[in-house]
Amino acid sequence: MLSADFYQLASQRRSTRRFQERPVPDAVIRRLIAAATEAPTACNRQLWQFVVITDPEVKALACRRSDAQQSYFYDAPAVVAVFYDCSLEHRNPCKTPYITAGMAIYALLLAAEAEGVGAIYLGGIRRPKGIAEAVGAPSFLENLGVVCLGYRDDAPPAPPHRPVDEVLHYNRCDLRQPRFLADIRPHLWSLRQLADFRDKLLWYKGIGIDAKVLHVNPDERFSPAFQYLTGRLGILLGRHARPRFLDVFSYNGDLVLQVLLAAGERPEKVYAYDLTPGILQYMRERFRPVAEFPALDYLLNGDPDRPAIPLPDGQIHVMSCYERLEQFEDPQPLLREMARVLAPEGRAVVLVSNRFYPHQYRYRRMREKNYALGRNWNRGPERKYEPSEILRHFRAAGLTVESVVGLQPVELKLAALAEGVAHRLGAHAWADRVADWRQRHYVARGCTRWFAQTLVFELRRTPS
Ligand SMILES: Cc1cc2nc3c(=O)[nH]c(=O)nc-3n(C[C@H](O)[C@H](O)[C@H](O)COP(=O)(O)O)c2cc1C
Repeated sequence: MLSADFYQLASQRRSTRRFQERPVPDAVIRRLIAAATEAPTACNRQLWQFVVITDPEVKALACRRSDAQQSYFYDAPAVVAVFYDCSLEHRNPCKTPYITAGMAIYALLLAAEAEGVGAIYLGGIRRPKGIAEAVGAPSFLENLGVVCLGYRDDAPPAPPHRPVDEVLHYNRCDLRQPRFLADIRPHLWSLRQLADFRDKLLWYKGIGIDAKVLHVNPDERFSPAFQYLTGRLGILLGRHARPRFLDVFSYNGDLVLQVLLAAGERPEKVYAYDLTPGILQYMRERFRPVAEFPALDYLLNGDPDRPAIPLPDGQIHVMSCYERLEQFEDPQPLLREMARVLAPEGRAVVLVSNRFYPHQYRYRRMREKNYALGRNWNRGPERKYEPSEILRHFRAAGLTVESVVGLQPVELKLAALAEGVAHRLGAHAWADRVADWRQRHYVARGCTRWFAQTLVFELRRTPS
């Protein structure tokens, strides 16, 4: 084999997330496992085992017990559960069993690519023990994730890779790139770090317009907050014959896409603004198979050290900002930019996560002083705002509040608790009545809005 072929193979390998139903022949699977077993192994112990799951019932059981929540696990015609007997190497400071399994898995992925078989390694499994239980593996074998295999039904683009110069060092490790911080507090992050974090993390589940796939994160597109926001934006856009719309930090483009699909040809411009070329490329790749959108323009932040929307003053009729201020300790620079580009008659809809709402994970973190990325590992730093604090910020940035509503007020949380208790006590009819009430009270306009999970502010520019 020419060395160029190897480099070609390595660079064209992509994680496959959509599979045809066609099964992978046993002979091919045997060759893939053979390639995995050629990988180097600590002390040449070779304590790996590979269980190929093809039976839909076993697959369903493994999914359920492991809480895998990833659609490809269900869809792939063959799933290889990777096990290693880690007991002999538990105390090894270099974590040799995991390195060994990782090498075997990569060999398997490359071999699959060489065979023209699509593959993806899944490590985002909440309870890998459940996979061991489903296939009857003995307790000394540790499950180290699964490789889904099948013929491809997608052609994913390559995610951005760090250039070699950024990761290669001779003799001294001289880091030019600021490192990610395992800490959610935004004051510890610079804008460059935030941009780099989002730029890479965004690609973690590939490109998929069908975000309905079950994954480690619930799909936010269909959350009630998202629906409320898109509904309000629709109404505001309807007030202009040829509206210009801007979405602030569009990230995966979910919101922009909804606006494009709902507003059709009416908008003169729909701007998707974000921090890095990688994020804009992600949206481009994602929207490409859906349709051509002539009104859509991607805007790249104009300055690596501060938010700078590359638009002239007073351009935008309708603007959205969906829980993005949370990533900044000081939201002023971004808010001033938003106020600058807003037209005098324009409206901005800004969703802010409320500090006065009992977010349980935050209290746990505060108690444990554990600020590592956890619930928001794919979001980076995040803070919540007190209502009075964010109102001060709006005022200082030259924005006037037109209206405030709260989404999911705290009484809904209490009602949900009551509903659970009622079910447990067998009072199902009563629980159903509480559920109906909850549905109708998702949006709070009265004073309890200040104790809602998310506050929605509609803003206009303060006349000077
Ligand atoms: C340790 C590890 C765990 C992974 N877990 C998941 C996962 O749970 N779900 C998923 O969709 N992709 C998972 N992946 C695949 C990565 O998201 C993917 O490799 C990365 O985005 C780069 O894309 P590429 O493989 O197409 O080059 C995992 C990859 C590794 C190495």
